[in-house]
Amino acid sequence: MNSNQDAGKKQENKSLWWKNGVIYQIYPRSFQDSNNDGIGDLKGITSRLDYLQWLGIDCIWLSPIFPSPMTDFGYDISDYQGIHPLFGTMEDFDELLLQVHQRNMKLLLDLVPNHTSDQHPWFLESRSSRNNPKRDWYIWHDGKEDGELPSNWLSVFGGHAWEWDELTVQYYYHAFLKSQPDLNWRNPEVQKAMLDVMRFWLDKGIDGFRVDVMWHMIKDAELRDNPVSPDSVFNSEDLIYDYLIPTYTTDQPEVHDIVKMMRKVMDDYNEKVLIGEIYLPVKELVAYYGQKEDEAHLPFNFQLLTLPWDPQQIAAVINEYEGVLPEGGWPNWVLGNHDKTRISSRVGRSQARVAALLLLTLRGTPTVYYGDEIGMRDVPIPIHEVVDPQGLNMPDLNISRDPARTPMQWSDKDFAGFSLYKPWLRLPDDFRRVNVENQKTDPYSMLSFYKKLLQIRRREPALHIGNYIPVYADKQMIAYMRKFENDRFLIVLNLSHRPCYFKSEYKGKIILSTEPERDCNKIESTITLSGDEGILVRMD
Ligand code: GLC
Repeated sequence: MNSNQDAGKKQENKSLWWKNGVIYQIYPRSFQDSNNDGIGDLKGITSRLDYLQWLGIDCIWLSPIFPSPMTDFGYDISDYQGIHPLFGTMEDFDELLLQVHQRNMKLLLDLVPNHTSDQHPWFLESRSSRNNPKRDWYIWHDGKEDGELPSNWLSVFGGHAWEWDELTVQYYYHAFLKSQPDLNWRNPEVQKAMLDVMRFWLDKGIDGFRVDVMWHMIKDAELRDNPVSPDSVFNSEDLIYDYLIPTYTTDQPEVHDIVKMMRKVMDDYNEKVLIGEIYLPVKELVAYYGQKEDEAHLPFNFQLLTLPWDPQQIAAVINEYEGVLPEGGWPNWVLGNHDKTRISSRVGRSQARVAALLLLTLRGTPTVYYGDEIGMRDVPIPIHEVVDPQGLNMPDLNISRDPARTPMQWSDKDFAGFSLYKPWLRLPDDFRRVNVENQKTDPYSMLSFYKKLLQIRRREPALHIGNYIPVYADKQMIAYMRKFENDRFLIVLNLSHRPCYFKSEYKGKIILSTEPERDCNKIESTITLSGDEGILVRMD
């Protein structure tokens, strides 16, 4: 690369909003209810935009808001170009988009191209007869000659992935619920229909998509059986997804052609972002950037969600990820989402700030899950109140996603200021203490910490576009540096509960600590951290 190109790249890094900025995921059912039916909606989100702007967020991603029978809470879509009445109207959406843009923020939608609802007109037609023109839009197969299922494939939500259809006497494939039949992405008509959906929303002015289960989109054409996982604790009769390795149902070579088609659509517009939901180890994950940077801009990196909270393992994966990123591939990190245990429940309250400091000082675009900024925890949901299909289908495994999807805790009013009516999921007992209003005025709160951290991150180029330099990791702590031109920042995080000592010759000043009393302290030679402490140091 010559120096002009280098300068050009630097410029590009500086100006692209989805590289510099911070993404905030909103689960629309749970953010703010404006019409008091106990379910969050678009007008509610619009009414809270000032809060997000105050917090220092750059971009909002909304989980699905489209018409849906809600068997998987909106990830079963029956109309890709409408708004579910529970969430409001298209006018409400237009107003939300306008208000987001007026605040210089961006808006991303969730695109769910792998499957539709079984109530989508496409599937109703496809299922109506074997010679319906849309028959091949979904994955229909005969059973094997001996009466067996077409393959041994299992559904992520438990049970077989093949559902028998009495009317047309064939099976259809569903990676998730039987009410979520998978589209046949080998069919050019399907490709065109979904790319048109993308254009519909991009023409409206949205800023990009988070693409649901991108690595699932193509399955083996020969329907080969998936191999049994040697690590699984399950038996074949359990019909639990983890029993098999999804060798032939996910991450198929042809999926990259599909992602390229999607990227081409995005590239017809200005500065849009394509994010892929992909749960794969980093080596396989980075293939989704495309060999010519022609696939996803950001294949979601879920390592912080899936790794044990161990500094050496985390440091190793950061290095591995930095090492395998293709040239021009921009990193990203995620700490929470609507499918996983909240960070404060996974690593504990005492580590939640350390985790935030890690997320927001690593190199790459961070995604914050709503409520994590006030330390919301998974809320225990009594068995008879569980509504998540993953929880209902596998009740003994304690894998319901409801606990991480509870209403945002805004204030100490009834129903936490989320609604005047009983919310669709219950609030925790401590919401009158743990809420935005309380924390806003408390300089020692998690929210104040987040806000300061976001402000510093936005202000300092080293933190949003600087290099990542690994420094040290042991059983307790991890240390690294971020550098841009002459600015250098040292981040030292104690992932344990006991004090730790970092021998170094670094000199500088703490500009943010998880223990606010230490802000502004000088650092010289050995750095001492208390248990669960993390510091951000501006180096001399
Ligand atoms: C994705 C979504 C999850 C949903 C599944 C099926 O993993 O994040 O919530 O249940 O896809 O659409």
